[in-house]
Order: sequence, then structure tokens, then C-alpha cells
Amino acid sequence: MLESLAVNPQSREFSMELTGLEDPLHMWRRLIVYLGLDDEDVIVAMRRTSETLLRDAADFVVGAYDYLASFDETASILGWEQEMDAAHLEERRQFFATWMARAIGVDLSDEFAAYLFDAGILHAAHGPRAIHTPPQWVMGAIAMVQAHIAERILHYGHDRELAAIAIGGWDKYLMLQNYQMLAGYQVARKVDDGPLTVTVKLYGKLQAMAGREEQTVHIHSDDTLADALRKFFNYHPVLRQEFFVVTWSAPEGDVEATWSTDFKKVYVPRQGPYWRILLNGKEVRYHGGFEQPLHAGDIIALFPPGR
Ligand code: HEM
Repeated sequence: MLESLAVNPQSREFSMELTGLEDPLHMWRRLIVYLGLDDEDVIVAMRRTSETLLRDAADFVVGAYDYLASFDETASILGWEQEMDAAHLEERRQFFATWMARAIGVDLSDEFAAYLFDAGILHAAHGPRAIHTPPQWVMGAIAMVQAHIAERILHYGHDRELAAIAIGGWDKYLMLQNYQMLAGYQVARKVDDGPLTVTVKLYGKLQAMAGREEQTVHIHSDDTLADALRKFFNYHPVLRQEFFVVTWSAPEGDVEATWSTDFKKVYVPRQGPYWRILLNGKEVRYHGGFEQPLHAGDIIALFPPGR
């Protein structure tokens, strides 16, 4: 009798809402507008100085690494206190030349935004060499690029008005880039924050999208599944669209809530063929939802529809 009255665990669905996810691409686009980098006159002025900047780009790249190798903290970050590692130096110069070419071309694309976000992640010791480059040194390098650009533009005697608009544009554009790298750096640091670890295992096309099969996420003892997923999906913003749709929520009963400050962006799982999230083998939709506590060593698995 009791058996037949028992509630089917599959019939109860738990809350699976996620808030607090940053959207680096949205911020990149908004900052472009905020900084006036959507103004055609500014972009044209910057591009009219691009050729000037290309003339000295190679020397600048070489000089930049000589400088980083000569300054105690940056030399130590790069492991060049005693001497420069030739292979690593070549690698770094190649990356910098690639970056410089894209920057001099005033690349404002979403793809460049993602590239810079990923560079910030690599700076947090998440790259193949696991080198940690704290953001002040990256900011300093950006400031030196700004100074170099201003000096070169004035040196080559561009029209004063054009030079003023272009230098202002370059300054804003490089600040935008600095912010984008910082955003990547911060999400990577959060993934490493906490004394305990859980593992997020990826299946299906997520592996190719994330470029990995699993990810270690650090947590604190009172963290919930939502806390770990927030860190994970902030680190991999492109994976979100597979799982979630965005809704907006206002504080309950607050008739004076304003859109810009009080409404919260809430990520809720897609309906229909949905990806499944399992915690230690149990689908969280029917077992505890996102607000359940986590424990060291827990395995979170993200499965494609139908698997
Ligand atoms: C203008 C400022 C900077 C920009 C735009 C920048 C950008 C980047 C990019 C795009 C990458 C990824 C390269 C790739 O694999 O394609 C990268 C990696 C790296 N950057 Fe920077 N960076 C800057 C400043 C610095 C500074 C000042 C340092 C060191 C003092 C540094 C150290 C590194 C290291 C070590 C890596 C590779 C990490 C690894 O492979 O483990 N960066 N950076």
C-alpha cells in the first residue's frame, strides 16, 4: 500500500536557475558604444595612422621583450632572470606580432573579444606554460603601447586634428582590450579559488567547444552546485547557449524596480531536447537542483540531449 502511494522521484523537478553570470561579449559591445568607438570619424582617424604604426611595429615588438627581460618582476614572471629562453622568446614575439597586427588593424570583432578574454585566462597560469602574469604588468604593457603609438603618430607629423582624434581613439581602444583581458583573468582566478575541488566532465560537442574533456573547479566548503556552475560557465561563456535561455526577474513586490539596476538576468535550462546535468551520476533536475551543497571530489557531468 505504502509502495503505491510513494511519490515518483522523477515527477518532482527542482529549481535550476543560475544568476550572476557575466557576459563578456555583451560588455565588449557596450563598452565600444560607451567609449565612442562606434564613431566612424574616430575609426577612420585611427586607421589613417595604421600605416605609420606598422612601419615601426617589428622594432617595437623586439624592444618590448628586451624591456620585459630587463625589468625584475616581468623577467621573473617569464623565467628570464638569468637569461632569455630563445624558444620561448620566439614564441612570445610571434604572439605579440599577431596581436599587434590585429590591434593596428583596429579589430573590434566579437572574435577578437573572445581572443582577448582567452589571453586573460592564459595570463592566470591557465596556459601550456602555466605562467602567472598578474594584471598590473599587462596593464603596464598596454600603457607602454599607448605611449608608443602617441609618440609615433606625433613623430611622423600627422595633421594635428587627425592626430588628436586618433590618439584618443587608440587610448580608448587599448583600455577596452585591457578590460577584456582582465575579465578573462578574473574568471580564471575564480575557478582556482577555494580549498576543495570538484570536476566538471564534458560530453558530446562540448568537448570540442571547450577544447577539453574536463575542468577542475575549486570551491569553498559551503558552496552549492550553482556556485561551481557559475564559475564554470563564466569561464566558458560560449557553452551557456547549449544549456540555458535568458530571462529577467525583478525583486518580488518591488513596483519601483528599475530595469538597469534591479532586474536580474536569470539563466534557466532550455525546454525540449535539453542537456542533462548530473551530480555524481544523478540528474540534478530530479535530485536536489542547483541549490544543493557540493563536497570535495564531486563529479558534475554535462550530457548532450539523448545520452
Ligand atoms: C600589451 C599587453 C599584452 C597583451 C595584449 C597580451 C596578450 C596575450 C595573448 C593574446 C596571449 C595568448 C597567446 C597565444 O597563445 O595565442 C598571451 C599569452 C601570454 N602572455 Fe600576454 N599579453 C600582454 C602582456 C603580457 C606581459 C606584460 C607578460 C609578462 C610579463 C605576458 C605574458 C604572457 C605569457 C607568459 C603568455 C603565455 C602563457 C602560457 O602559455 O602559459 N603578457 N598574452
